[in-house]
Amino acid sequence: MNEIISPAKTLSGSVLLPGDKSISHRYGMIAAIAEGPSRIKRYSGGADCQSTLGCMESMGIKIERDGDDTIIHGQGLEGLKASATGDLDAGNSGSTIRMLSGILAAQSFTTRIAGDESLARRPMDRIINPLKEMGASITAHNGRFTPLTIEGRTLHAIDYTTPMASAQVKSCVLLAGLFAEGKTIVREAIRTRDHTEVALREFGAEIDSLKNVITLEGRPQLKGRELEVPGDLSSAAFFLVAALIRPGSAISIYGVGLNPTRSALLDFLAQMGAPIKVLDVGQRGGELVGDIQVKYAPVKGGVLEGATTAALIDEIPVLSILGAVSEEGLLVKDAKELRVKETDRIATVAENFKRMGVKVDVHENGFFVPGKQKLEAATLDSFGDHRIAMAFSVAALAAEGGDSTIEDAGAASVSFPDFYTILKRLAS
Ligand code: S3P
Repeated sequence: MNEIISPAKTLSGSVLLPGDKSISHRYGMIAAIAEGPSRIKRYSGGADCQSTLGCMESMGIKIERDGDDTIIHGQGLEGLKASATGDLDAGNSGSTIRMLSGILAAQSFTTRIAGDESLARRPMDRIINPLKEMGASITAHNGRFTPLTIEGRTLHAIDYTTPMASAQVKSCVLLAGLFAEGKTIVREAIRTRDHTEVALREFGAEIDSLKNVITLEGRPQLKGRELEVPGDLSSAAFFLVAALIRPGSAISIYGVGLNPTRSALLDFLAQMGAPIKVLDVGQRGGELVGDIQVKYAPVKGGVLEGATTAALIDEIPVLSILGAVSEEGLLVKDAKELRVKETDRIATVAENFKRMGVKVDVHENGFFVPGKQKLEAATLDSFGDHRIAMAFSVAALAAEGGDSTIEDAGAASVSFPDFYTILKRLAS
């Protein structure tokens, strides 16, 4: 499916976003191994989070939809059954396969799990290694790719230092640690999003985080809960940037997740000079939630490196668009992880910029987009990557020379099925 995006003069109005993708995955998995039903409000309708629910259903978990609520009938730590529908399908979702593998490794049955072509190119050794240390039996294509065949075993607790900044790896080890006797410890050099820790605590696990060391007590009794997923700040990023590249824009976004391990985005935009206000902040299910208002203002540009790069890793494609129209441009360093996302996002950002006549210097672990550049209307490609589809749809709003086409635009539905409808409603 192609999408035609016309240039916009301004963007205005208000937005209610889909439920956070990261939090939805965690609620979907943890509710299934908790005891009794959980009612999850605003569970993401994106294909990725639905892949997680599909896997849980294949393993015998009953899931009902009641309006905007998803009811997951948890069966406790020992309640999953061997898939009745053959291989589990993680679709496009790295979070599904990497986090769920932690649970699968501890079952009393064998599971084969795979996904689409993009997932088949993404490294799984990052979760296979710690799980094997815990006693898991996993075979993978060429040692590190899908499909994974996971023979359930009794796992033992480990003390693990993650070799890269990855919340998926941390979460995989913690979810596996639920099934092991004793304390599982995960140490991170760079702190990553802590939604797994927050969610496990909400469902009744004993878990402590002190600085970058997380300690989980194994074999907890998890209890079904009623929870609401906050709006996805990573989805908000597309509209924040859209407002910041079109003069006169003003947008309000309601009920957005503001977890401090995610909200570095707002700090970074504010540092660049973006007029952003956060209002009505409260807590729900251990997660901070609030409303965001943004108005157009010219922004300075900036540098992303180290822990900031890790914290903003999903937002880099759309921040690169802001970089191109900023005063000084955007320099992205320490972003090797971008090479192993749904696409090699350094390459796919660079290719679409080239098509728009935008200069970008590509480095092995990052790139530099000089500022004050003109964007030309073009035929752009998502390359099957949801964040590339949405980032370059935003770029097309500021393009000169007419409409742009986004090829394979449907990829956006992996995290944000209504993205184009909302974008077009805000644009004038
Ligand atoms: C996620 C962690 C990040 C992020 C992904 C979601 C999560 O991946 O890019 O979109 O929900 O834990 P890594 O763990 O590979 O950094």
